[in-house]
Amino acid sequence: MSNYFIKSFEEYFGIYRKSVENPELFWQEIAEEHFLWRKKWDKVLDWDFTKPEIKWFQGAKLNITENCIDRHLVNRADKVAVIFEPNNPEEKEEKITYQQLYERVNKMANVLKSQGVKKGDRVCIYLPMIPELTISVLACARIGAIHSVVFAGFSSQALATRINDSDCKTVITSDGSYRGNKTIDLKRIVDDALEECKNVETVLVVKRINSNIKLKENRDKWLAPLLEEASNECNAELMDAEDPLFILYTSGSTGMPKGMVHTTGGYMVYTAYTFKNAFNYQENDVYWCTADIGWITGHSYIVYGPLLNGATTLMFEGVPNYPDFSRFWQIIEKYKVNQFYTAPTAIRALAKEGIEPITPYDLSSLKVLGTVGEPINEEAWHWYDDNIGKNKVSIVDTWWQTETGGIMITPLPYITPTKPTYATLPFLGIQPVLMDENGEEIKENQVEGRLCIKYPWPSIARTIWGNHKRYKETYFSTFKNKYFTGDGALRDEVGYYRITGRVDDVIIVSGHNLGTAPIEGAINEHSMVAESAIVGFPHDIKGNGLYGYIILKVIGEGRNHDNVRKEINQLITEQIGPIAKLDKIQFVRELPKTRSGKIMRRILRKIAHKDTSNLGDTSTLLNPEIVQEIMDNAL
Ligand code: WT7
Repeated sequence: MSNYFIKSFEEYFGIYRKSVENPELFWQEIAEEHFLWRKKWDKVLDWDFTKPEIKWFQGAKLNITENCIDRHLVNRADKVAVIFEPNNPEEKEEKITYQQLYERVNKMANVLKSQGVKKGDRVCIYLPMIPELTISVLACARIGAIHSVVFAGFSSQALATRINDSDCKTVITSDGSYRGNKTIDLKRIVDDALEECKNVETVLVVKRINSNIKLKENRDKWLAPLLEEASNECNAELMDAEDPLFILYTSGSTGMPKGMVHTTGGYMVYTAYTFKNAFNYQENDVYWCTADIGWITGHSYIVYGPLLNGATTLMFEGVPNYPDFSRFWQIIEKYKVNQFYTAPTAIRALAKEGIEPITPYDLSSLKVLGTVGEPINEEAWHWYDDNIGKNKVSIVDTWWQTETGGIMITPLPYITPTKPTYATLPFLGIQPVLMDENGEEIKENQVEGRLCIKYPWPSIARTIWGNHKRYKETYFSTFKNKYFTGDGALRDEVGYYRITGRVDDVIIVSGHNLGTAPIEGAINEHSMVAESAIVGFPHDIKGNGLYGYIILKVIGEGRNHDNVRKEINQLITEQIGPIAKLDKIQFVRELPKTRSGKIMRRILRKIAHKDTSNLGDTSTLLNPEIVQEIMDNAL
């Protein structure tokens, strides 16, 4: 028997050892016993990080939707697969059973086929968080088309870039979307984007907000009548384990997003296995991840991971503060949610509202609380633990990336002792290492270094769509024979990992390699500093100088800013050395951030470089208005 569900800390260590001593055998057992393969593989793993080339379960044939849906029809046909909670709490929820999901996915798959979509074609999905989004994703997988979901908060320019990069000929969208008390004209955004996308032949439109939109003749079609006519049976296309399943764009250090390509067999095995263990999912649990399916978290842990385990997965269309800040807690009570997975940004925003929005609601169904997306600060961790988990619920701080496909470092609930701000230990089969600046592996504990993974795991992205060279340069060239995550991490005395943030912003100052993360760490220790971001700028003598954008907790509070500047540089001198002192310090009100809470350094760099003619794609910014203000006050 394989070790699909881990029950104790002892078992974790034993299985972990086995999973790294003989990864092929370990993954083969998991794959064999828990999935439906139409043909078995010839070889478990083939890999070469220098090319790089990674192939899992080569020669195997399968369809992931048979694993997500068909095989559950024997025992779970009437079990709810997807709960849809609409933006407006007055609108009735929808509960879709596995049998209904089967029929709706097949209908959608048949519609796609009727529009000429074939295996290997790319389909762009630009939809709000409504059932048709999940159904479209699965329908593509059913017929072997490669889905490229674009988050429906992206601008028309960002959408066009993504449609063109992967040459999608079909787009699935809706007339509009609801977001709190607003509606958004999605179709208009698509129309604008398609001005730039000459290869798109078909746009399928879901009616969601009943707005008055125009359909472009011969290109745009309402989905409903097509679905009505379509058969609810559709053969699952036989796919190779290494056939692409989807493309998902993530931002890189240049303006051009990277279309990460995930393949079928390995992604299936890894997302299913991590879902089961990281969230301790049991048969009748109701699981809720608040992410959007437009991000990897939604792909792996709203759609694929849960459905592969025959779970009930909740999709929420709305926002945390509509109609008010109690919405999340209301939903948890309403569906007796057992696992709740969200982001530190959301936790901090909710914490600001105090506990009044929480107290009226019964949260006793909760068994596991998850967090993902950025380092969680200690204060937010404790707030989550005290007020949502009432100190009784296991918290899993899960570290992973779009590129990794699934959770990589995480506690196992009720098994791994937690430590706030630490993602703790590697998941089964994951071999993290810390590297120093000279490219050497750091073996001891109580150290900080660059986080790499030294052995392939089944759900690693295989390439960047259309740009394998960039894939190699970004992930496999910094450290020899290792996958470089771009993150820095601490390893404590027992081997727990704490992710400290991105380190790939290395700046060479007078020939010294300086990472921005440790400098920011030093600055942030100043009692008046709320947040900071460092970038390089051209400097006559040093090559690069350091430019700091700093948010103060209290502005204009009598204290001389020049004194604060001196104190900050004193702290840096103390912690890193005079070489890391900032040449320029600009106090700002906010930093430009993406929706997932990441500072968009590219923009800060351009401002520091006095090169603001073309800021590149700013469509992912949460607060675009701050950019002009920072530019106006630039030094
Ligand atoms: C980057 C990946 C994986 C889904 C969401 C983000 C940061 C992610 C954690 C965590 C500290 C984290 C890392 C990583 N990150 N999870 N638990 N603790 N940092 O996916 O947009 O591809 O971003 O998010 O810096 O590299 P993504």
